Amino acid sequence: MTWSVRAAQPADLPAILPMMVAFNHEESIAWSPKTGQAALVRLLSSPELGHVGLGIHDAAPAGYFILTWGFDLEWSGRDAFLTELFLSPAARGRGLGKRLLAAAVETAQENGVRALHLVVRPQNAAAVALYRQAGFQDVPRTLMTKKLA
Ligand SMILES: CC(C)(COP(=O)(O)OP(=O)(O)OC[C@H]1O[C@@H](n2cnc3c(N)ncnc32)[C@H](O)[C@@H]1OP(=O)(O)O)[C@@H](O)C(=O)NCCC(=O)NCCS
Repeated sequence: MTWSVRAAQPADLPAILPMMVAFNHEESIAWSPKTGQAALVRLLSSPELGHVGLGIHDAAPAGYFILTWGFDLEWSGRDAFLTELFLSPAARGRGLGKRLLAAAVETAQENGVRALHLVVRPQNAAAVALYRQAGFQDVPRTLMTKKLA
């Protein structure tokens, strides 16, 4: 078994898109390449916006993560959101999710991120356990969103 994680390139779009469709389907998020692909293409070629990590299992793409950069005086500098973390179903249950998350945290640190945030559905027991084990903590705040465009 081999496993590695590298920065995704624009040429990796065909490998990432099907995983992204699967991720959003599992998370019950309305997302389709038709409306969402352009933003992914932009992110893949815009390191100032964030970072896409691609997990390779036995020479085949098997997972990805997405980090997007922010800036918050509460953290005295750059913070980031881990907006997506996904491992192909066939690769789950053998510690690779943990390694993919560790790669995301390491990439954030390498990019000067001082605090990393994420949103997870409380019903997603596997992900909640994974994140808690990695040191993520609940914050006593309510995430609110106003759509602007
Ligand atoms: C979440 C996900 C990345 C975990 O990947 P994985 O390779 O199966 O996880 P690992 O084998 O590395 O397990 C790491 C930890 O996750 C937790 N975990 C994994 N599967 C679990 C399950 N079915 N039930 C409970 N906890 C689980 C455990 O804490 C485990 O640590 P342990 O083995 O020391 O107990 C993977 O299930 C996935 O991609 N799910 C769909 C997408 C998703 O939910 N992403 C996160 C949403 S924000």
